[in-house]
Amino acid sequence: MGLRSTVAAMSLQPVEALDIAELLQLLEIRNQRVVRENSRDDHIIGRDEHIAWAEEVAQDTAQCFLAVLYQGKIVGGAGLRHIDPVAARAEWSFYLSRHEHGKGKGLALGVAALDHFFSEYQLFEIVGETLTHNAISQKVHLNLGFKLKSKRRREKGAEADFDEIITFGLTADAWRTRRAELFAVDGK
Ligand SMILES: CC(C)(COP(=O)(O)OP(=O)(O)OC[C@H]1O[C@@H](n2cnc3c(N)ncnc32)[C@H](O)[C@@H]1OP(=O)(O)O)[C@@H](O)C(=O)NCCC(=O)NCCS
Repeated sequence: MGLRSTVAAMSLQPVEALDIAELLQLLEIRNQRVVRENSRDDHIIGRDEHIAWAEEVAQDTAQCFLAVLYQGKIVGGAGLRHIDPVAARAEWSFYLSRHEHGKGKGLALGVAALDHFFSEYQLFEIVGETLTHNAISQKVHLNLGFKLKSKRRREKGAEADFDEIITFGLTADAWRTRRAELFAVDGK
């Protein structure tokens, strides 16, 4: 399945529109080991903690979070934090259920989420952070047209001694260009 048809089969639902059963489906994915190990915080999130987080996101204009659905089923999530309307910048994060990995859905999720974020929040730039050990995320960022901005040592965590945080940036103009390239080579 090509990028165009995969993106077309995706839809986005803000967390405030999800019912409890859907919020718990999102939590099951967020708690998967592969997602936790590549997140800022790797502890197992409890049900109440997750529901409180969703309520907080719904109230806070500086952040948003979307469940990503593929053919109507929740397969992942993508969000923004530090939404700064003056600088027109925000930081994104994203994850996909381990059952869907390696089939091009991560790239498609990125396309769907970036389209939404750039148009909804009128952003000049979206920034993304990834750990050096997360080669797949780096590949997805580069495929989406992000450029390397900086590298810094991870401040805490068991892997602090050898892990670094890589920061990528993507401007709205660069996204328009890269998006067209991705769809031009895809053709489907
Ligand atoms: C990042 C994530 C969304 C990618 O999803 P995915 O569906 O596996 O990604 P895709 O199939 O669209 O693309 C993966 C790319 O990485 C490549 N890849 C796969 N395994 C790889 C590996 N071990 N090392 C390097 N590249 C790899 C694929 O070949 C593909 O590149 P290509 O498009 O040039 O062929 C998914 O792995 C995930 O949710 N990980 C856990 C959470 C996470 O890391 N989120 C990002 C935090 S910054």
